[in-house]
Amino acid sequence: MLRSTPWMITFACLTLACAPEPEPGPEPAPEPIAMEEEAAPVTASAHLTAAEGSEISGQVDFTETEDRVRITAHVVGAPSGTHGFHVHEIGDCSAADFTSAGDHFNPAGVEHGGPDAEVHHAGDLGNIEIGEDGTGHLELTSKQLTVSAGDSSVVGRAVILHADADDLTSQPTGAAGARLACGVVEAGSPAPAEGAAPGAETSEGAEDAEAAEGEAGDGGEG
Ligand code: CU
Ligand code: ZN
Repeated sequence: MLRSTPWMITFACLTLACAPEPEPGPEPAPEPIAMEEEAAPVTASAHLTAAEGSEISGQVDFTETEDRVRITAHVVGAPSGTHGFHVHEIGDCSAADFTSAGDHFNPAGVEHGGPDAEVHHAGDLGNIEIGEDGTGHLELTSKQLTVSAGDSSVVGRAVILHADADDLTSQPTGAAGARLACGVVEAGSPAPAEGAAPGAETSEGAEDAEAAEGEAGDGGEG
């Protein structure tokens, strides 16, 4: 990772520093540029939203500390049972079936496995257990993901909740079945959090999904 530092800086410049201010400032807030590189914990998060007609939502937070990333996920409104849970390589949840998120995030080019296995995709987070009340909670740490910029960064990827259990062995997906919910991982802490955000995002997501369906041609679902 140290060797890629110049590249990381370039990437940070491209994504953070060199392209801010997309809007001609309605707010005169003079924010000093305080992008310190190693001071505060580096965080990112994803809001999970489901396809139209589903009430699944969730929140996934990533916090980088020293040599690892802590991952905390909350899911509500999901069918009870064991569901595969992964970081996928493309931060695009626009397709109705979320295939737009691509394959499991696998910067090392290795085989699929459980998060505790010696070899597994960096994006393999294993399974999340959803209770009878439709809620689930998952916490784990990863030494194969980062939040800060680089080849292993989760920022700009997607988190996917699957319909079935990840068997942790089948290649290349763990046979986890359809994709029930998806969220793009964005840098920074969640602004609203507190449970209000997933609901608010659901309606937005539904609109986005409709728009995407329109662009991609009629999905024929309804
Ligand atoms: Cu997946
Ligand atoms: Zn995998």
